[in-house]
Amino acid sequence: MPLDVIVGTQWGDEGKGRVVDLLSARADFVARYNGGDNAGHTVTVGEQTFKLHLIPSGVIHPHTTGLIGNGLVVNPTTLLEEIQSLKESGINITPERLRISFAAHILTPAHRALDAAQESARGKRAIGTTLRGIGPAYTDKVSRSGIRIGQMLDEQNFSNAVKEHVAVINTQIKNIIKGDALDAHAISKQLENQAQILRPFITDVSSILTAALARGQRVLAEGAQGTLLDLDHGSYPFVTSSTPTAAGALVGLGVGVGCIERVVGVTKAFQTRVGAGPFPTEVFDHLATHLRGTGEQPWDEFGTTTGRPRRVGWLDLVLLRYANRINGLTELTVTKLDILSGLNPIKIAVAYKDKHPTAGSPHWSS
Ligand code: IMP
Repeated sequence: MPLDVIVGTQWGDEGKGRVVDLLSARADFVARYNGGDNAGHTVTVGEQTFKLHLIPSGVIHPHTTGLIGNGLVVNPTTLLEEIQSLKESGINITPERLRISFAAHILTPAHRALDAAQESARGKRAIGTTLRGIGPAYTDKVSRSGIRIGQMLDEQNFSNAVKEHVAVINTQIKNIIKGDALDAHAISKQLENQAQILRPFITDVSSILTAALARGQRVLAEGAQGTLLDLDHGSYPFVTSSTPTAAGALVGLGVGVGCIERVVGVTKAFQTRVGAGPFPTEVFDHLATHLRGTGEQPWDEFGTTTGRPRRVGWLDLVLLRYANRINGLTELTVTKLDILSGLNPIKIAVAYKDKHPTAGSPHWSS
């Protein structure tokens, strides 16, 4: 059963987009299985650069069908903006070209506002989230109070569910910071309008995929973020709230365990991270500027989603071995080797002297 999964082996931003572009040339379906618009996949084709946050980047190939799996939290505003921007680049995302799982969760402006309030309340212990509302949206999902995309199909109940959701988040925000309450009516109106456009895209992605795999069609699952940001296996609590590792593809798309053929890990020839948390091989000053770039090139190390300069450091093989273990990689792609040109010496971490260089994650060194 031909499901190929592309996973980041670091803290995201490994350059997965170019590997996706290569492999989606021979895929029938391209699918996202985790995260939300915290992700940013940059793909440059000829003169055109596409920056995608929710839509699988493989849709740039006209023969593919894009799928948004149940494992995502979907911000409809971002999704519609992305559909529009692809249209302006000549790629028409119709409901035939993109299918969204009814079981994916909706991420609302209230989730974003709560993310910002929680981060500011954390003060020095802030996670450095992308402020896209990811944590609060997954919290609602896990606490069984979230709103699924499928609820957009029932106009009246949807509107009530959104208003209740905003009221609950208003109370949560009021307990954290002072400020004006969010306008439940306006948010529900906005989402109702978006629902009207998105309804034809909503379907049962799990059943489409299972049938496609049984026919022998090729599916490419694009992991967002990376292994070290995985909720369970990453550098907790400095992680995202989803499962970017390979097993997440099965849960986040609703397909059986036997269908994975390849697990392609992507690593940069050095290491980067945005946000707070441990980084054993981090470097600073002019060396950091060499690895990061100045921001003039699309491949320079500045967040696709937030524009933040990324922290940079040497390649860490302790972490790469760990990512291999967690994901069961069948192969590995190394990106951005050219950036190391002109550096002498080039360093690579092969072991840690300190038994616990990453608080809370002693398992990394095994
Ligand atoms: P959140 O996913 O916005 O909650 O952020 C949690 C952590 O994951 C923060 O350190 C973010 O910087 C990081 N993060 C989330 N998405 C990405 C990504 O696509 N690339 C790199 N880091 C990410």
